[in-house]
Amino acid sequence: MFTPAFTSAAMLDRKNLMPVVNPDKAGNPLHHPAPKAPRIFADTATRSEIEPLFKAGIINGLTTNPSLLKKAGAKSWDHAKEIMKDLCNLLRPFPVSLELTELDEEKMVRQADELAVLGDNSVIKVPIGGYRAINSAADPFTGLKVIRRLWEKGIKVNTTLIFNSTQAFWAANAGATYVSPFLGRLADYAYKHDTPERKPGNSLYWVEDHKNAKGDQIMHNTEYVASGGAVKDAGARLIFEIATVFANYQIKTEILAASFRNQVQLTECLLAGADILTVPASVLATVADHPLSDEGMKAFVEDSKAFGK
Ligand code: E4P
Repeated sequence: MFTPAFTSAAMLDRKNLMPVVNPDKAGNPLHHPAPKAPRIFADTATRSEIEPLFKAGIINGLTTNPSLLKKAGAKSWDHAKEIMKDLCNLLRPFPVSLELTELDEEKMVRQADELAVLGDNSVIKVPIGGYRAINSAADPFTGLKVIRRLWEKGIKVNTTLIFNSTQAFWAANAGATYVSPFLGRLADYAYKHDTPERKPGNSLYWVEDHKNAKGDQIMHNTEYVASGGAVKDAGARLIFEIATVFANYQIKTEILAASFRNQVQLTECLLAGADILTVPASVLATVADHPLSDEGMKAFVEDSKAFGK
């Protein structure tokens, strides 16, 4: 489990620059207890997965991408745009990220204009890099140039496929409203490449090797077991790093932590200082769960029968 040693004063100062998430309703004398809580977005393009959560006030934004649109059944670009427009209507006034599929700067800017009119709450998702992976002759600055041009046009950008804090800084500097670090994919990578070598860092095995005479684990290594290994915390450490860089320079670009696989990663992001969590429906469905809550609830229901309830 990732646990930062501190939250800097600069990080707390930066929070004062960020939008108030739970404002009081006009005329409401009660102050919400969590006005600066991170915003919760859903990471899906499937309306049925989020409509009830949105109506219940549990989510206040949405992120989509081409893979999620494919999963939602999009069969053509026009169909994908219909789905994106419907999601913008549903979520208004909360932000909905719509990803560019073009790879050339001019085409991307034109496509951004096309997507921006799907809703006044649309945010254009621009991949930070990877252009040369598709075409070796591509301009590596394509993403940054597009972000800058969209910022000049007043179009909000969510920079996607962020895997290090340098990418996040350059995106913010180009004018992005949001950066999306993909912490789950970093963990996926670590799990995939984990080899059972018995050395620190390959944690599960490391713990196994470091028992005391009674067979107990050495305590400082138990954190590795809890999170599946230090290297698998890379995503949370990345969020903390970006939060520190952004706090150092009071950068208002919001850190939109993405690509969640489980509740532990949600907790880690809260500890690390993410501004927004975009959560897939499968993980959202678990956020109120704990086996001890189940057990406690069963006992309360059983005992309440004693007084006729
Ligand atoms: C973020 O905006 C992306 O849509 C998303 O979180 C990617 O998640 P995945 O790694 O589960 O595809």
